Formats: sequence, C-alpha cells, structure tokens
Amino acid sequence: MERSLKERVVFANHNLTGDESFGEMRLVFCRNVLIYFNRDLQNRVLGLLTDSLVHGGFLCLGTKEDIEFTDVSSRYRVVDGDAKLFKKQETS
Ligand SMILES: C[S@@+](CC[C@H](N)C(=O)[O-])C[C@H]1O[C@@H](n2cnc3c(N)ncnc32)[C@H](O)[C@@H]1O
Repeated sequence: MERSLKERVVFANHNLTGDESFGEMRLVFCRNVLIYFNRDLQNRVLGLLTDSLVHGGFLCLGTKEDIEFTDVSSRYRVVDGDAKLFKKQETS
C-alpha cells in the first residue's frame, strides 16, 4: 500500500461475534464472512454493522450473502443486487 495512504488508515482488530459497534462509518465492506455464521449470528453481526453505519451509509456483502430475510432488511435499500451493495435508509 502507498505509504501516504497507509499513514491515513487506522488498522484495528474487531471481533464481529463479541465486540460492539465501531463508530460512524460511511462504507462497510464485510465480504465472505457471514456465510460461515448461523442465522442468529448473522443477525447479530448485521445489527452491529447497521449500528456502525451512518444513515445513508453503504454496506457491501459478498456475492453469496444477502440481507434479505434478516432482521435488518427493512433498514436498507438495495443499490445493486448483483454487487450486494445496500444503502442504509435515512429514516430507519
Ligand atoms: C473467507 S475470508 C474472506 C476475506 C475477505 N473479506 C474476502 O472477501 O476475500 C473470511 C474472513 O472472516 C474473518 N473472520 C472470521 N470470523 C471473524 C470474526 N468473528 N470477526 C471478524 N472477522 C472474522 C477471517 O479472519 C477472514 O479474514
């Protein structure tokens, strides 16, 4: 990674199964992780990611993952179903 870019990035470990929300994010990529979790844990993690996003923020999942039929589905608008890109609703 370009050094000038690296100096502007905060690197941190975060355990999705135990840690709390992690700030006011505008974009979260969480790709190919949820597929390893059961339904309850997927809902926990998606709740955590949703709490971590600002209203109008974007969530990008892996191609085999989705928010459909999860606890947070009503809180997002699908931006690109193929790219699994979702926008958190302003009025959630
Ligand atoms: C299949 S890899 C996907 C890596 C990358 N996101 C991608 O799409 O190529 C799954 C990733 O989930 C991470 N992971 C597994 N359990 C996790 C947890 N409880 N909290 C945070 N990350 C976790 C692993 O460390 C690994 O990097």
